[in-house]
Amino acid sequence: MSSSLPDPTRSARPATFDGGAVGRFNAWFFEAFDRYINFVAREHKRAAFDGVRAGDVVEIGAGVGANFDYIPQGSRILAVEPNEAMFERLRRRAEARGAKLELVPAPAEALPLPDASVDEVLCSLVLCTVSDPHQAVREVLRILRPGGRFRFVEHVAAHPASPRRWLQQALVRPWAWLYEGCQLCRHTADVIEAAGFRQVSIERRRFRRSLFFPVNSAIWGIATK
Ligand SMILES: C[S@@+](CC[C@H](N)C(=O)[O-])C[C@H]1O[C@@H](n2cnc3c(N)ncnc32)[C@H](O)[C@@H]1O
Repeated sequence: MSSSLPDPTRSARPATFDGGAVGRFNAWFFEAFDRYINFVAREHKRAAFDGVRAGDVVEIGAGVGANFDYIPQGSRILAVEPNEAMFERLRRRAEARGAKLELVPAPAEALPLPDASVDEVLCSLVLCTVSDPHQAVREVLRILRPGGRFRFVEHVAAHPASPRRWLQQALVRPWAWLYEGCQLCRHTADVIEAAGFRQVSIERRRFRRSLFFPVNSAIWGIATK
C-alpha cells in the first residue's frame, strides 16, 4: 500500500466525533483499565492476535492503543479511530512503544483505505460500539488482500436464558450512554459469519474472573478472506 492514504471523503459519514465529557471519560477509562482489561482478555487476545505478520497492520477502533503490544515491532499501525478524545493518548502510547503510528480519523464503516491493500486487520471490543457492524465488517473484507486475516476479540450477547443476559438487557440503555453506543446484546459472531469470508474460525469463551460482569460473554476469532 502507498504511504499516503486516499481521500477520506469517500463517504458522507462524519470522519470523527467529539463525545464531550463522555468521550473524555472513555479515553480516561480505557487508559486507566488498560492493564486490567488486557489481563482479563489475555487468553482471547493471545489466541486471536499471536502471529500477526509485520507490515501494514490496521486496527479498527484502536482506542488508546491497548493492542499495540500484539503488533510486531517495525509494523506500521494504521489506527482507525473516530473519537477525537482518544487521539492524544493513542499518539503518546505509540511514541512510548516506539511504534510507527498512522492515525486514521475515520469510522470503521467507511475506511479511507484502498481495496485489497492489507494483510492484517484487528480489533477488540469495537464491533459492539460501531453503529453498523455489518458495514464495518464489509469494509474490513474490502481492504483485506486475498488470504488476509481479520482477528477479533469481542463481547457479545450472553445465552438467552442466563442471568447475564437478563442483566445485559436491563443495562442496555445506560451502558450505551456511558460507553458511547456500546451494545451489550450484539450477535457479532453471526455478523462475521455472514460477511463472506473464505474461512471463519470463532470460539466463544467467557472472560474469566472479570469485574465487568455484563460484558464477560465473549468471542475471539480469525476470519480469512
Ligand atoms: C470499547 S472501546 C475499545 C478500545 C480498544 N479497542 C480496546 O480494546 O481497548 C471502543 C472503541 O471503538 C471506537 N469507535 C466507536 N465508534 C467507532 C466506529 N464507528 N468506527 C471505529 N471505531 C469506533 C471508540 O472510539 C473506542 O475507541
